[in-house]
Amino acid sequence: MVAAFAPTPQHTGMSLVADRVSHAFDMNDGKLQVLDNVSLTVEPGEFVALLGPSGCGKSTFLRLVTGLELPAEGSLEVDGGPITGPDPSRIIVFQDPTLYPWRTVYQNVALGLQARGILKTHRSRVDQALSLVGLPEFANVYPHQLSGGMAQRVALARALVNDPRMLLLDEPLSNLDASLRQEMKIEIVQLWQRKGFTALLVTHDVEEALMMANRVLVLQARGILKTHRSRVDQALSLVGLPEFANVYPQHLSVRIAERVAVARALVNDPRMLLLDEPLGKLDSLTRLAMQTEIVQLWQRKGFTALLVTHDVEEALMMANRVLVCSPRPARIVAELKVDLDYPRHRGDPRMAEMRREILHHLGLEDSW
Ligand SMILES: Nc1ncnc2c1ncn2[C@@H]1O[C@H](COP(=O)(O)OP(=O)(O)OP(=O)(O)O)[C@@H](O)[C@H]1O
Ligand SMILES: [Mg+2]
Repeated sequence: MVAAFAPTPQHTGMSLVADRVSHAFDMNDGKLQVLDNVSLTVEPGEFVALLGPSGCGKSTFLRLVTGLELPAEGSLEVDGGPITGPDPSRIIVFQDPTLYPWRTVYQNVALGLQARGILKTHRSRVDQALSLVGLPEFANVYPHQLSGGMAQRVALARALVNDPRMLLLDEPLSNLDASLRQEMKIEIVQLWQRKGFTALLVTHDVEEALMMANRVLVLQARGILKTHRSRVDQALSLVGLPEFANVYPQHLSVRIAERVAVARALVNDPRMLLLDEPLGKLDSLTRLAMQTEIVQLWQRKGFTALLVTHDVEEALMMANRVLVCSPRPARIVAELKVDLDYPRHRGDPRMAEMRREILHHLGLEDSW
């Protein structure tokens, strides 16, 4: 469903397929493995963010996509053809604007066209690119006369002048202050919407990734792609919090935070969910609501669940089977099959019966 990615009717965006890409650098004491079997597909016009810890190989991956370097193993294809070298249709923007100080803004932006020998016939593109980044009146200014944000906009214009079909963004906003970063995030997204190029953004900033991209890929330290946004979105939807993606934990209620913790577990698509008194700290009402929610999740997802709890009723409300442990050293002293349909009712006489039985095994029948 390509049409869903960018609102522009005609996509100029380029597709990317990385197939089992591995890359290593020669070091004094052997090889430094940076990317390990990275496979990913980017649809034309998609905006994909790559997140990952410092040094995991994000910039290396972008460099491979520019064609400045070829992967040691695996293949990289754009629009179905192999990447064999740099091409103006794939342009990278770095963290540092790296403008030539002796050239005016116009001359900096014109660089790509000049290098390709098409500046004379395509001068209007320079003006267009400067307009796109909101700096048409700064054409004749030198870099030292620009603010950091303006310089980064010029760097963006220098990329856009080539009318790239794929824009590679390597932390382009990380040197900017917070408010400028916010502004530029919006501007880049708007540019992407207007132009329809494919965007691949490397960032450390989770919020930035979620604000800007359609999809977020998380790289692990050894460059293994771990998860992506649809999974994160799915997990957030599963716990009923799709609209909380950009909220910080300190602004969440305890109940919501607990659900985020569940989502964080679910994002791994576990086949077994181990719950060690996950609801122990919640007030009783919230606790009841969460019990129902977790049971519903379990029913929908089909994982195996192993719940540790002190609360007999909780065990009976949630589980298929309850194992009762003795005091230390633990032995299993009883096993009860809970053959009640969901949703269960606390007032169910069968429930009361089983509760009494469990309390008996715990030596607590007097408290019944
Ligand atoms: N040309 C090179 N020669 C040797 N080692 C390199 C080279 N380029 C990168 N590395 C090493 O490869 C690893 C990955 O580098 P890369 O720049 O891709 O990481 P990154 O994920 O972009 O990190 P950061 O988030 O800090 O920008 C690092 O340990 C880096 O030192
Ligand atoms: Mg980097």
